[in-house]
Amino acid sequence: MIKAAIVGASGYTGGELVRLLLQHPEVVITNLYSTTKGGQPVTNAHPDLLGQTDLHFSDSLDAELDVIFLCLGHGNSKAFLEKHSFADHTRIIDLSNDFRLTADRNFQGREFVYGLPELQKEAIQNAKALANPGCFATAIQLALLPLAQSKSLKQTVHVNAVTGSTGAGVKPSATTHFSWRNQNVSWYKPFNHQHLGEIGQSLEGLQGSPASVLFLPQRGNFSRGIFATAYTPFEGTLEEAQQLYQAFYEDAAFTQVSGQPIGLKQVVNTNQCHLHLHKHEDVLLVTSCIDNLLKGASGQAVQNMNLMLGLAEETGLQLKSIAF
Ligand SMILES: NC(=O)c1ccc[n+]([C@@H]2O[C@H](COP(=O)([O-])OP(=O)(O)OC[C@H]3O[C@@H](n4cnc5c(N)ncnc54)[C@H](OP(=O)(O)O)[C@@H]3O)[C@@H](O)[C@H]2O)c1
Repeated sequence: MIKAAIVGASGYTGGELVRLLLQHPEVVITNLYSTTKGGQPVTNAHPDLLGQTDLHFSDSLDAELDVIFLCLGHGNSKAFLEKHSFADHTRIIDLSNDFRLTADRNFQGREFVYGLPELQKEAIQNAKALANPGCFATAIQLALLPLAQSKSLKQTVHVNAVTGSTGAGVKPSATTHFSWRNQNVSWYKPFNHQHLGEIGQSLEGLQGSPASVLFLPQRGNFSRGIFATAYTPFEGTLEEAQQLYQAFYEDAAFTQVSGQPIGLKQVVNTNQCHLHLHKHEDVLLVTSCIDNLLKGASGQAVQNMNLMLGLAEETGLQLKSIAF
């Protein structure tokens, strides 16, 4: 069995990893690392796991690990790796943005590979350290990669994406407070969200020149999921765009192109990304839906672990959408 540890296991992405790995047929969880809850049962932070596990949080880690997931806030992963060392064979999967940009990839002699399987599966299969993409970054890149590859991003792409409150982590804040968030919509970080760096990097890598992306992130009054729309001029027909996307995602385990308009709930609680294309005059509208905690974080991290350790990509990720 693969021995796995989760650092930051009391948080939202850490909790999702516990839920996924408890059901994974090839993995045993050996450590749930917490700086604040050492010794406590995991059900103190994740009461839904009652009856499923008697695992406890701990403030120490086994030396012999096959894989370690870092589910920490930005900057804390680097700090954690500076304080703890692991065997060469231990795979490191980081969910923060500490190692996603090319300039940050080399750290302590390890090279972090950017972990978007639809973009570079082979590099992930050979990786020992992995930077898991951001949630908005996943939804938006999957909406735009086929256009970048076919060099169709010639003009500005306008992106609107609305996220649920779990995107902001477990610690309550003014903008996740129920009284403010419920029955409310708002935008934040207009045109300068931190995920634009990794999005731009991937698009430029595919099309050979920078893409212009105007991204307006929004907060929705639901707890999980990202509903993103991207639109830009496109010279071909709708059928040509659909062929482009079908071909690009032909071998993708979790990204599907839908022939009918899509809604968020069809992907919530799954590792799927659903895409839909619509053409109006010369503009192509691409809609992209993911669950921010699964395809946007912990589900994609397990998908990447499967690839890194030579397992079938879908192992442990056959989930059921909430649908309605
Ligand atoms: N939420 C999402 O939808 C999402 C999606 C994609 C990526 N991400 C990224 O994934 C990472 C984790 O996000 P999250 O939403 O799970 O955050 P979270 O709910 O705030 O959980 C983070 C956990 O990290 C631990 N922690 C806090 N400060 C620490 C420190 N200085 N050193 C070690 N541990 C510390 C805490 O657990 P203890 O008190 O138990 O130690 C905390 O529960 C972030 O970088 C985030 O940007 C999140």
